[in-house]
Amino acid sequence: MTLYEAIFARRSVRKYRENPLGTEVLAEIQNYAASAKQLPGHSARFETVGGDALKGGIAPYAILAHSGGSDAELVNIGYTLQGVDLYLQSTGYGSVWCGMAAPREPAPDYRILLGFGETGVPLRSGEGDFKRKKLSDLCDTDNAAARAAWLAPSAVNFQPWKLSFEADKAVLRVNVRGIGRVLPGKLYLFDLGIALKHVELALEHEGKTVAGFSVTGSGKDTAVAIQAGSDGF
Ligand SMILES: Cc1cc2nc3c(=O)[nH]c(=O)nc-3n(C[C@H](O)[C@H](O)[C@H](O)COP(=O)(O)O)c2cc1C
Repeated sequence: MTLYEAIFARRSVRKYRENPLGTEVLAEIQNYAASAKQLPGHSARFETVGGDALKGGIAPYAILAHSGGSDAELVNIGYTLQGVDLYLQSTGYGSVWCGMAAPREPAPDYRILLGFGETGVPLRSGEGDFKRKKLSDLCDTDNAAARAAWLAPSAVNFQPWKLSFEADKAVLRVNVRGIGRVLPGKLYLFDLGIALKHVELALEHEGKTVAGFSVTGSGKDTAVAIQAGSDGF
């Protein structure tokens, strides 16, 4: 299964098998996370730990994301770790983003984690199996990139962004409304990066060239643009 295909099949897994993963498997996952593509100019650090290293953990293992705490760095973590989420699910493991858990050892640059492990919980069977807002609430255009973003996971499933297409770029803007405003911290910035990864994979799947990325604004005015190559989107 490709990462793009995993967008339509993944789910948050909260039930895991107890059996431990081998050291080689764990090393492979750590290597994947450590070398996963990040947004230009970013270098978040990813650390694989056992669930016993966590307070309030919900999976047997976790990848801890460490970086500076600027808004763009949080978007980058969402973007990068979502590639790992899709990799894990496409290779048969369960995974779940977890904002409520934290490492037992305090680390000032710790930002969020992705739990993972072996599971018997099946993948989803397609778009109809997802609980999401209406696509038209998130984007005026119905195309492959919009559909991929639409299915992206987000904290409490709030989907706190809007996607639009302009002449030479696709832009995701924060759209935090209603009860979403009371969520702690800036989880919506991870969500923005997560949706960005799905948009990128869909555009690449369609054979489009992605020329670059830019993160602008801050807080609830943050936007991320994905720039098209000369052939446009
Ligand atoms: C940034 C972020 C933080 C999350 N934190 C938690 C969490 O603390 N506990 C939990 O059970 N799920 C958590 N989730 C999972 C979401 O609830 C889940 O992605 C959403 O409900 C959509 O469901 P799906 O992932 O199965 O498609 C988080 C997701 C994201 C993206």
